[in-house]
Amino acid sequence: MIACGIDYGTTNTSVAIAKENGKTQVIELDDANTPSTSLPSLVYIGADGSILTGRKAAHVFIQNNVGREVIMQSEETGMEISIISRAEPEKSEFYNPGLIDPDVMETISIKTQVDVNLPGRLFQSLKTKLKFTDFKGTDVFGKHYQIEELVSLILKRCKEKVEEYMSDTVDVAVLGRPVFFSQNQFEDQVAERRLRNAAMIAGFKEVVFFYEPVSASIEYISTTTPNDQLVMVVDIGGGTCDICIMKFQRAETLEERLKRSTVLSVSGDTVAGDMIDKEIIRKRLFHYFGSTARYGSKRLPIPRNILNVVLDWQNLYRLNTEETINWLVAVETFSDQPEAIRALRLLIQKNCGYPLALVVENAKKELSFQEQVKIQFCYEELNIEETINREEFSKIIEDILGQIQTLIVEAEQKAGVKPDDISLVLTTGGTCLIPAIQKMLIERYGLQKIISRDTFTSVARGLAVVSRYL
Ligand SMILES: Nc1ncnc2c1ncn2[C@@H]1O[C@H](COP(=O)(O)OP(=O)(O)OP(=O)(O)O)[C@@H](O)[C@H]1O
Ligand SMILES: [Mg+2]
Repeated sequence: MIACGIDYGTTNTSVAIAKENGKTQVIELDDANTPSTSLPSLVYIGADGSILTGRKAAHVFIQNNVGREVIMQSEETGMEISIISRAEPEKSEFYNPGLIDPDVMETISIKTQVDVNLPGRLFQSLKTKLKFTDFKGTDVFGKHYQIEELVSLILKRCKEKVEEYMSDTVDVAVLGRPVFFSQNQFEDQVAERRLRNAAMIAGFKEVVFFYEPVSASIEYISTTTPNDQLVMVVDIGGGTCDICIMKFQRAETLEERLKRSTVLSVSGDTVAGDMIDKEIIRKRLFHYFGSTARYGSKRLPIPRNILNVVLDWQNLYRLNTEETINWLVAVETFSDQPEAIRALRLLIQKNCGYPLALVVENAKKELSFQEQVKIQFCYEELNIEETINREEFSKIIEDILGQIQTLIVEAEQKAGVKPDDISLVLTTGGTCLIPAIQKMLIERYGLQKIISRDTFTSVARGLAVVSRYL
């Protein structure tokens, strides 16, 4: 059976195969993306049932959704619940447990707010959601999609592309997995099982899992003949930070090198690029949406749960109800920062959450190559212009940097080694391009020990090497 290596990432997915000559080949997955070997892990499902993955999913979502008029309607769900209604507070169970007056119980039907004009939904960072035992799936235009099915749409595209390249059927997927989908063992197992199911739904007959950072170290020894060495891999992507320490012994052939290599330790957690983007919004953009505003005679703040939706654009549409919008219009009138409240309302009403998140992510990426960036977002009366320099950015992500450092120390301690014992530190994953992370590694291990491996393909290539030895 033919096998391929798939690095299904929170943000990007890549695929590689092992070639006859011992090398690996990364497969083109998405013509619309740069680089075309990375498939953005995005799924768009249109109201007409059309399904798109990758860069086009984002394009079509923005084209169809941003600025459109949202029409929310109240619809019956067909479910009923009993509630305590018309109760005097002192009579209700809430205030007097056990003293329910049956006269105040009432059966009501549950209604839900439906965006009847919704052209399609976009799913991002699905990998992060694999562990949530209560997120089994979602209803999309009347059809229920389990999370496995949504993920399988990405893996299916990978399978089709690699089969097109090979002109043959590819039945085995060597799939990367983070060291921890979750620190909770049960959730971690649920996530892996769901990812396996997703690969099966995509048509693979056999699935083998391999730790992502270990794959990156195997990619390294498949192209280099290192002396006896202790190698650390730091792989920080969109969803997780994954670390491993490997011991390699010198040998001429790759097979011998692999046989003589040992994993001394692994560590990891869900601290990565997505979290950094949210931190930028929280610390630098929240005030554009009224985080410091007060309204009414009691000078009340905007409820945190409403502001937090700015961080979670995938659920922003839930606030687009007549009730919330009317409330925001009223608050605007009685607020000391009416323009900020209006900005919050426009963000919700005009569906600008995703494009704003993209602007923030792009600014963060640019900061890896320049000293200062401007986060600029203008849509009708929504005007954001915020300049951030590298030093400020390092401050914004101070806690995250601390968490990454803790994971590094944990890997060293588990392996029983000290920084000086490490011979090489291989970095991969988009978030490792952040200068503050590089600086942290240089300070700990010294500049000459840090080697950057290909940001988006080293894990997939390593998985392809593994596939050859199955
Ligand atoms: N130049 C850059 N500077 C800073 N961050 C970057 C840069 N390029 C990409 N990123 C960030 O890296 C992340 C994507 O990296 P990558 O493709 O390695 O993740 P992934 O493999 O999809 O995720 P994971 O391995 O966590 O599941 C995103 O958060 C992206 O914003
Ligand atoms: Mg990754």
